[in-house]
Amino acid sequence: MSFTRNHQTALLLATAMVLGVTMADGPSRVNLLKAGKFALLTKTGVTTTGITKVKGDMGTSPIARAALTGFSLVADSTNEFSGSPLVTGNVYASNDAVPTPQLLTDAVLDMQAAYTDAAGRPDPDHLNFGAGSIEGETLLPGLYKWDAGVSFTDGVTFNGSSTDIWILQIGAGLNVGSGAKVKLAGGAKVKNIFWQIVGPAVLGTGSHVQGVFLCKTNMVFQTGSSLKGAVLAQTAVTLDSARITKRSFCDITVGCETS
Ligand SMILES: *[C@@H]1O[C@H](CO)[C@@H](O)[C@H](O)[C@H]1NC(C)=O
Repeated sequence: MSFTRNHQTALLLATAMVLGVTMADGPSRVNLLKAGKFALLTKTGVTTTGITKVKGDMGTSPIARAALTGFSLVADSTNEFSGSPLVTGNVYASNDAVPTPQLLTDAVLDMQAAYTDAAGRPDPDHLNFGAGSIEGETLLPGLYKWDAGVSFTDGVTFNGSSTDIWILQIGAGLNVGSGAKVKLAGGAKVKNIFWQIVGPAVLGTGSHVQGVFLCKTNMVFQTGSSLKGAVLAQTAVTLDSARITKRSFCDITVGCETS
């Protein structure tokens, strides 16, 4: 017996309906693999001022530990990572002891692959939505593509179920206004929202965002801004009394779990 593709799809849908399976809306998720271990991963360093709080692991590579400034790092007795009064989790750098250099090389390759995957998804559901001004909008699950930058001054809401996925392809910078908030509704999960940003990404004073930030360049956290999720940046991250919270760690076999 042979089926055409359409027959197979129809059969799968019918089976899903009979079994009562809920089909997720939006694109398939972006797998972070080993990059999913980190709340904050960069290639060229992290600088902080003020009372920053990072909950989760932090890493930088190929640049060395000296590019992590303001963290008052104290090397662990194994020299495989450092601790910091500002970080609940381990801080890894490329010049830490074995096996850390390889862990970071792999994680950086995986974050670059995740960026490329997100950036390369074809056939967006929404092209240049709001011409990049998404203030006050509610984003339903799907693939969003902007040829230029995106901004909002006050807030945006992601509304969908706990299995729905959002991928935002942002062709230039992201500007989040002072005090602006990203809100989730309907069961939407931090780990299912992917921001792919050509860059830079700038969080205004006291703003709050959620999701996995895949940045081709840098991300700037202005005074008192916060992120629930992760930032995986291919240049540097600067923090000023900022808060980054990643609730659980990834199992590298399943990818990222950020909430
Ligand atoms: C989210 O979507 C549901 C279902 O469409 C709707 O009932 C609810 O009002 C929406 N919530 C927000 C905050 O947009």
